[in-house]
Amino acid sequence: MKDEHSSMEFFRQMFGGSWITQGIWVAAELGIADLLADGSRTSDELAKKTNTSSAALYRVLRALASVGIFAEDEQRRFSLTPLAELLQTDIPGSQRSLAIMMGGEFYAAWGELLHSVRTGEPGFQKRFGVPFFHYMTENPERHGVYDAAMTGVHGGETEPMLDAYDFSAFRTVVDIGGGNGLVLAAVLKRHPAVQGILFDLPAVADRARYTISGMGVSDRMRIEGGDFFSSVPAGADVYVLRHIIHDWEDPEAVAILRQCREAAAPGGRILVVETVLPPGNEPSFGKWLDLMMLLVAGRERTKEEYSRLFSAAGLEMTRVIPTASEVSIIEGVRAT
Ligand SMILES: C[S@@+](CC[C@H](N)C(=O)[O-])C[C@H]1O[C@@H](n2cnc3c(N)ncnc32)[C@H](O)[C@@H]1O
Repeated sequence: MKDEHSSMEFFRQMFGGSWITQGIWVAAELGIADLLADGSRTSDELAKKTNTSSAALYRVLRALASVGIFAEDEQRRFSLTPLAELLQTDIPGSQRSLAIMMGGEFYAAWGELLHSVRTGEPGFQKRFGVPFFHYMTENPERHGVYDAAMTGVHGGETEPMLDAYDFSAFRTVVDIGGGNGLVLAAVLKRHPAVQGILFDLPAVADRARYTISGMGVSDRMRIEGGDFFSSVPAGADVYVLRHIIHDWEDPEAVAILRQCREAAAPGGRILVVETVLPPGNEPSFGKWLDLMMLLVAGRERTKEEYSRLFSAAGLEMTRVIPTASEVSIIEGVRAT
């Protein structure tokens, strides 16, 4: 009986996952964690600052406090907890932008998962009328939130990636689809003799100039805007593609890899940094990220699927290097 009760409780928590997503989203959109940085406040005080209903805001914060996000005291004042601190804007490891995307566009797209399963088509496009990156290009303010959200979700993978792979042997590293430039900045900081090229869509590249200014690497980082389906910077000895290939179905993924293969200097390396799906029933964040990718016309892949993709692009997969984080580094060179 007790076991049956705890399984039902567990199942109910799973069902309620989307409720928690929305509660976190409300707090993130309203900047509640930033308003609590100097100390606790009541929902009345918070509602005045956010132009919201105090009674409704109280109910959301009470529910969030029940799962450890914010804490309420006897005077009905709310304060930060370690989880709530992650929703602050300007802290290392901030999850605020990710929470805003998760409860905003991504949440709406998840509502189309059944459509994707019935048709194989991307749910995001059904909901928003255009492919994911078109939407982002048409909505630069949201694309800026997305850039920061990528650091929120993948930022913790950077140091493990640098621990697992030695970039010091290279002269020039290109980060393809490098977003706000923080991954490449970390490579250059770790290896003072290495030069870097950040490549992303023109508007993203322009925003990255601001993000990386003041990080002490601008003199070694060239920033280029462009479209990786047309061309990528030529002549470098390593091309990093972190969470690029998973955004696309096989024909597009092969086209991007081919561009890198054509552009690389002789002997150049291609590094695809992704979650490699484990076989069987093993728990894996990647198996859920794969559904997010299904919604935007991409997919996560197994090692064998990456190997086939590399062959189709004229590359030989040389190594798959695990890191201490979720991702592995899949290394390739031009096939002979
Ligand atoms: C999932 S994000 C990965 C960001 C970053 N590499 C990371 O690991 O955090 C995908 C990136 O691909 C970029 N991108 C999408 N389409 C592109 C295109 N056609 N040409 C160049 N970059 C593109 C996006 O702007 C975005 O920065």
